[in-house]
Amino acid sequence: MSTGAPIHVLNGPNLNLLGTREPEIYGHETLADVEALCRQVAGDLGHEVVFRQTNAEGELIGWVQEARQAIGIVINPAGYTHTSVALRDAIAACDCPVIEVHLSNVHAREPFRAHSYVSPVASGVVAGFGVEGYAVAIRRIAGLSGG
Ligand code: DQA
Repeated sequence: MSTGAPIHVLNGPNLNLLGTREPEIYGHETLADVEALCRQVAGDLGHEVVFRQTNAEGELIGWVQEARQAIGIVINPAGYTHTSVALRDAIAACDCPVIEVHLSNVHAREPFRAHSYVSPVASGVVAGFGVEGYAVAIRRIAGLSGG
């Protein structure tokens, strides 16, 4: 069953390379595997998924703006996590819950990854759960929406 309002799953730069990009850090699953997982978990909870990836900061911000009145957003901002005030401002303008997801534990890596512009305006943060983090975030958004 998947008839409810969509959950938007937005992915930032270099996540199109998942599976081959530093697999010792990000794992062997591809972005297509992540999409399939998101669709399955959301579908079981009665929600459609809008799943997108971009390497461009402005495009990611545009998608956040588009989704700001959706049921919720799951976002892995990737490198823009640590650099983008503009992305933070777009998320702050959202009316819906926004969950920040990182495949890796950003707090156990280089010091610059420990700072996120997004976390202070996110409803929640999942890091270090691998692709399962996306499933956790989707379940949380569905729960917050009462479904
Ligand atoms: C990432 C962590 C970021 O620091 C990094 O720039 C990424 C991926 C993660 O999912 O672990 O591209 O967001």
